[in-house]
Amino acid sequence: MTEPVTLEDHERLAKERMAPDIWAYLCGGAADEITLRDNRAAWQRLQLRPRVLCQLAGGHTRRTLLGRELAHPLLVAPMAYQRVAHPQGERASTLAAAVMGLGYVLSTQASVPMEEVARLAHGEAARGPLWFQLYLQPDRGLTQSLVARAEAAGYEALVLTVDAPVQGSRDQERRTGFQLPPGVAAVNLPDGVAMSAGGPGLCGGLAEHAPTWEDLAWLRSVTRLPILLKGITHPDDARLAVEHGAAGVIVSNHGGRTLDTLPATATLLPEVVAAVEGRLPVLVDGGVRRGTDVLKALALGASAVLVGRPVLHGLANAGAAGVAQVLRLICDELEIAMALCGCRTLEELGPAHLQPRS
Ligand code: FNR
Repeated sequence: MTEPVTLEDHERLAKERMAPDIWAYLCGGAADEITLRDNRAAWQRLQLRPRVLCQLAGGHTRRTLLGRELAHPLLVAPMAYQRVAHPQGERASTLAAAVMGLGYVLSTQASVPMEEVARLAHGEAARGPLWFQLYLQPDRGLTQSLVARAEAAGYEALVLTVDAPVQGSRDQERRTGFQLPPGVAAVNLPDGVAMSAGGPGLCGGLAEHAPTWEDLAWLRSVTRLPILLKGITHPDDARLAVEHGAAGVIVSNHGGRTLDTLPATATLLPEVVAAVEGRLPVLVDGGVRRGTDVLKALALGASAVLVGRPVLHGLANAGAAGVAQVLRLICDELEIAMALCGCRTLEELGPAHLQPRS
């Protein structure tokens, strides 16, 4: 293939170079992959209603989130074991996000030490916010030590993932026999604690320790960091998140990797935005592959968008340079889409830029 010019080009290239079991782990979804496909299709189905002859001078796509500025309203989603995609793993994706001035969320199951990732990000003056994604551990002492390390290393918020108390049915991973390659591990967790990457459903009795709203209260009591909840899909849960002192919610179905046949996030987002009534920032992820998808999410009321698998495609194709290219492409597309919709800043985007659903 010639030089990739879209995220889909990067995806095709990555698929060509990856073994089927690696592809199944990094890019597959749960069960029949209906949610995985629909996440993407739902953004595509939304139609745009541009305005013309608008004042565009001085336009930009900057966004302030929890008091920090991002050059564009994008963050890299937390994704485990990135050294499966490339030897540099999270080192490369962090650097690419930081030079671009975008946000970065490091997974609990990262394959590079969290302190090293923070040092790399902090070396870039223009970097966006750096957040730590947390899976509550059955042992509160261990959770607390992860939180303390994240605070000490300079992570600015915690992203508590609430939609994966157990692993989804990853049929493709089982079919292809995916195993973590030798030398790739969840290095921030003690040996043997990490959820097995390709393991069966109720591995390790995880459901016994599934986190609850009480655990969120406890977590708030042991950290000064703001806590965002990732994996909110129901408006009632969004209201509970507000009541329980969350600093933000992320509308996510885990990229279709946990429970299959959930609605697409583009469909869920408006209900959550309405339920939150502007009291918290609402972020969204799942199937975002085009600048127009980002624009549509913001028009529906999202404060920012997280991008997952495309980062792994770029990483597999060309390390940090590949991730930077993926992020550059989608940010450029967003700028073009903004101008063509007649918007100078993200604040001007709203439901009027979308065709109402019939
Ligand atoms: C993920 N995701 C994820 N989420 C999370 O909270 N903690 C994690 O450790 C992981 N790990 C992970 C690994 C891999 C390989 C993928 C693809 C995804 C989910 C991720 O944060 C995000 O919700 C989705 O990937 C977003 O959908 P797209 O952009 O990949 O379609």
